[in-house]
Amino acid sequence: MTFGIDDLPVRDELRGKSPYGAPQLDVPVRLNTNENPYPLPEALVERITERVRAAARDLNRYPDRDAVELRTRLAEYLTKTTGHPLDTGDVWAANGSNEVIQQLLQTFGGPGRTAIGFEPSYSMHGLIARGTGTGWISGPRHADFTIDVPAAERALAEHRPDVVFITTPNNPTGNAVPAETVLALYEAAQAAKPSMVVVDEAYVEFSHGASLLPLLAGRPHLVISRTMSKAFGAAGLRLGYLAAHPAVVDAVQLVRLPYHLSAVTQATALAALEHTDTLLKYVEQLKTERDRLVAELRAIGYEVTESDANFVQFGRFADSHEAWRKILDRGVLVRDNGVPGWLRVTAGTPEENDAFLDAVREVKKEQNT
Ligand SMILES: Cc1ncc(COP(=O)(O)O)c(C=O)c1O
Repeated sequence: MTFGIDDLPVRDELRGKSPYGAPQLDVPVRLNTNENPYPLPEALVERITERVRAAARDLNRYPDRDAVELRTRLAEYLTKTTGHPLDTGDVWAANGSNEVIQQLLQTFGGPGRTAIGFEPSYSMHGLIARGTGTGWISGPRHADFTIDVPAAERALAEHRPDVVFITTPNNPTGNAVPAETVLALYEAAQAAKPSMVVVDEAYVEFSHGASLLPLLAGRPHLVISRTMSKAFGAAGLRLGYLAAHPAVVDAVQLVRLPYHLSAVTQATALAALEHTDTLLKYVEQLKTERDRLVAELRAIGYEVTESDANFVQFGRFADSHEAWRKILDRGVLVRDNGVPGWLRVTAGTPEENDAFLDAVREVKKEQNT
């Protein structure tokens, strides 16, 4: 018998659990983690190299602990793209929006407190809640994956959670949440208890509609979380950020590790922010491909959930894991998020999407015979 995890004094709530793990398989077409398929443009790679070279000369020193220049540039990007004026003090940045979410839960959740999400949704909200000792409540959705507002309001009144997650566009289903729903849930959450409402806009740049960031005006308990992993095509950078009332930014600094954002990360993100126009051009191509996937999947005979993201949820399958395996056998990796009957595919390059569509056409034919 080898010594294993069960022989260690790990916390009771972690016993028997599995770590987050989208399979990283070496197959020709990988459309399973909602990455942007386009590598960074060469001019940006050059600029990153320049900025990182300059940062390397100072690596004997700790980085700017408050990442002031980066937060200023992020505030400018958000102001320009949403029309809602923001300053450095309204923005916070961390290693991916996962770390932003972790810092929010460390600050506003924790032992004896609870967080709610409306599932199926981004599974890391619940996993990070568990990791921070925050109780997790699974809130309701309709069968079409929209949020059941009256049921959600009842859940907020009953459980009085400390943190409310609303993901829009939602992952893995792809649908956006209307502003009226977010406002109704914000009001219900405040009536139950002055709790924090975190709107996770990881995919908002791909949306048909606008960002909900302007809702921050006059709502100090609202937080908008964003990432450079999707639209910016920089998942490997690990840079997430939030916009909120400056008091929220002050509060998360109580839990952040000192110097959490390395000088190399800050330099790379600053270089990427100099190239937002080029990067966001790929977003338009991906939106077109996303819409093509929706149309072609429907033409093949699949059901598809409306998508405002860079991925599409499709079904239905009697056994979604078996369908996932059949698509994988044809060299295409999609995602089985554990939503019974459904799978999720990320919009890739036109060639990758063609390979995916060929694979699912064959799977459908097999299903029908
Ligand atoms: C809804 C949502 N939020 C946040 C993230 C985390 O992104 P990152 O930590 O790369 O910023 C993801 C990643 O897939 C996501 O789907």
